[in-house]
Amino acid sequence: MGRVDRCVCKRVMLSAVAARAASLRASGLKDEDGLVARLAEELGCTTGCGMCEPYVRLTLRTGRGWFDWREPAARAAVSEVEARRASAK
Ligand code: FES
Repeated sequence: MGRVDRCVCKRVMLSAVAARAASLRASGLKDEDGLVARLAEELGCTTGCGMCEPYVRLTLRTGRGWFDWREPAARAAVSEVEARRASAK
């Protein structure tokens, strides 16, 4: 199965990420990087191994609570995060 629906390290469901992101956006936080940072602070997602970050970002972009890691959008998000990390080194 290729289903990804949570941050495994911190046991945070992507549906919870979507719900919290909706309320953060309603309070004025719209920037994706800012949302990722705030969600990391509040929920802990992305703060362990970091492998969930592409899916957290996809959740922010789509509102969806799960993805198949084989989906083109999911693979693109993984590549994007890997490139971002490589350029930050
Ligand atoms: S799966 Fe989210 S930090 Fe490891």
